[in-house]
Amino acid sequence: MSENNNHANLDIVRKGLLERIASGEPVEKVLRSTELKALYSEIPTLPTELRAEYGKQVNRLKQELEQAAGEQAAEAESLPPIDVTAPFDVNTPPDKRPELLSARVGTRHPLTREIDLMLDIFYRMGFSAVESRLLDDDYHMFESLNFPNDHPARDDYDTFMTEEGLIAPAHTSTMQNRVLRANKPLLERGEDIRVVVPGRVFRNEDLDATHEHTFYQLEGVVVGRGIHAGNLVATLRTFLSEYFEQELQAKIQPFYFPFTEPSFELAIERPEILRKDDSEEQKWLELLGCGMIHPNVLKHAEIDPAVYTGFAWGGGLERLVMMKNNIEDIRHFESAKLDFLRQFQS
Ligand code: DAH
Repeated sequence: MSENNNHANLDIVRKGLLERIASGEPVEKVLRSTELKALYSEIPTLPTELRAEYGKQVNRLKQELEQAAGEQAAEAESLPPIDVTAPFDVNTPPDKRPELLSARVGTRHPLTREIDLMLDIFYRMGFSAVESRLLDDDYHMFESLNFPNDHPARDDYDTFMTEEGLIAPAHTSTMQNRVLRANKPLLERGEDIRVVVPGRVFRNEDLDATHEHTFYQLEGVVVGRGIHAGNLVATLRTFLSEYFEQELQAKIQPFYFPFTEPSFELAIERPEILRKDDSEEQKWLELLGCGMIHPNVLKHAEIDPAVYTGFAWGGGLERLVMMKNNIEDIRHFESAKLDFLRQFQS
């Protein structure tokens, strides 16, 4: 092999190996390549006078490749670390990046928090809890609650209806029949039924600071032997004093609901800071509907009204939360406004 031939061959191999490095092949692999090994094994086959010079050139090529290895490693280290959880590519220029919410810790919705507080009070009073449904049927909404067919009282609870005739409930009383049926075995064992029902309800309403189309109610049902209206007032007063952490005066006044007989409206003494003036009207706040469960409602659940009596109540839950926390507009609750919600970080 002539000196020129060797040089030409070395040049071709050099070019090929550098190209492989440039295209991203790991340098260690290129250094172990058969082409480079072949150059080394040629050295002893050369005439003595050419060996030294050719050996030097092969060594220089090896150094050149090793240097390229160093550069490749340095470049890998200088790449920004990749955050696989980032919502955009790390190379996205700042002005093209999507706007993100700050990663502040979220909070429970104030209503969720307050419902839990209310339920805790009732649990301590021996109640269990069950949630109402977001869609219910005519039987639970009206018939089981003693609304006669086509009775004008149905109009007060006129809400939204699906094409199949299901109703977005206007009150949590829709659960009364289910609660009574499910807990009937307690009566047979000589125990009382005591259940509260928190739930989301809907009304066809003119909206203002105290009226929302979507809100929450808390219903209560108590049935047993010898239950009377005094138990009703005592239960609600105990709950309200616990919730507001102060003794509040309460009074009941006559009202009408198809599912109670007699029916009442419960009013509580409005805390002084929430009174606009000294008038009697400002003194009392009508809070909820209640009464002794109508015998027909008990019969619909196959409970004998000659043996058992009971009371029930139901009322908007936001009003209580607003009073306790000095919230001036009911519409804040469903607004999803972070400024509002963040005030309840606890
Ligand atoms: N469901 C009634 C309403 O939303 C409130 C109510 C009144 C519930 C009397 C009751 C009750 O359980 O006994 O207007």
